[in-house]
Amino acid sequence: MEEQIKNIAENAIKEIGNAQNANALYDIRVKYLGKKGEFTAVLRGMKDLSSEQRPIIGGMVNKYKEELENLITEKEKQFAEKELQRKLKEEKVDVTLPSTKVTRGSKHPLNRVIEEIEDLFVSMGYDVVDGPELETDEYCFERLNLPKGHPARDMQDSFYITTEYLLRTQTSSVQARAMLANTEKTPIRIIVPGKTYRREDDATHSHQFNQVEGLVIDENITLAHLKGTLEVFMRKLLGEKTELRFRPSYFPFTEPSYEVDVSCFKCGGKGCNLCKQTGWIELLGAGMVHPNVLKMNGYDPEKYTGFAFGTGLDRLAMFKYGITDMRYLYRNDVRFLKQFDQMDID
Ligand code: DAH
Repeated sequence: MEEQIKNIAENAIKEIGNAQNANALYDIRVKYLGKKGEFTAVLRGMKDLSSEQRPIIGGMVNKYKEELENLITEKEKQFAEKELQRKLKEEKVDVTLPSTKVTRGSKHPLNRVIEEIEDLFVSMGYDVVDGPELETDEYCFERLNLPKGHPARDMQDSFYITTEYLLRTQTSSVQARAMLANTEKTPIRIIVPGKTYRREDDATHSHQFNQVEGLVIDENITLAHLKGTLEVFMRKLLGEKTELRFRPSYFPFTEPSYEVDVSCFKCGGKGCNLCKQTGWIELLGAGMVHPNVLKMNGYDPEKYTGFAFGTGLDRLAMFKYGITDMRYLYRNDVRFLKQFDQMDID
């Protein structure tokens, strides 16, 4: 039996010596040291040996197994080292080659306007919040005092997904969400920039556009607060000389309601092609939050008042940067986008 063990070991050593690669070593390990390997077979025969012989044979097998294991591991290391050297040689990177040029992108004019508005309102203590673009009829209309069948819904041609779900036509939907989410019914001061959708498509309208909504609710909020806030807003964005004009209007969620015009920043109010010779440009809808809206969303109209406003960011960006066609904003033409790189350094 000792002879047999010695033979197995010698064969194994020879094979290890001849192995050409890591795969061959793996096979050898399985063949000799594996569960079904040759040494295991020998050990299985030990039950027939005398009790004196058993430890001797067992010790011998273990010694050889250990030796073989060491030999295999050693050789594996050699192969791994060789492989590493080969890779280092073949996959060498020439660091002296010129690099590929990294081109810097530029911020989209819409995002520039959004960020500027956010910075301004955050500095005045507002929170920036958002809401879902796929909205329910309830939040988009009903909770804003526009029950089903209300004629003012006609002004907002909508994309309905089901009878209950639609793509929001106005960021005003987040007004109701913010009021309901505030379970303590504490004062609210938020702006909501975001995408909105309507079923229209011509040179001055896109089926997808952007709005920013503002909502303030607190005790003793008056129209004066709304006027002051919009003045700061428009002057910061369009220039300190900008004047505002409030025209009575109608929105179901505000009472009173206004459309707010700004003096034309191209001609300073004298009249030009941009303002169609009127000196004014219509930019915002606004008003005092309707008591029904406060009540419907959990605020006591006896205690609280509030103001709200909404404006189209696309138009704002167009005026601010002198963009003549709204569709440029959505074409992602790099030549167009690049022009705004220099503009924010002021
Ligand atoms: N949501 C209105 C629209 O899209 C704009 C608007 C008007 C928003 C008056 C307001 C508001 O918050 O008070 O036409």
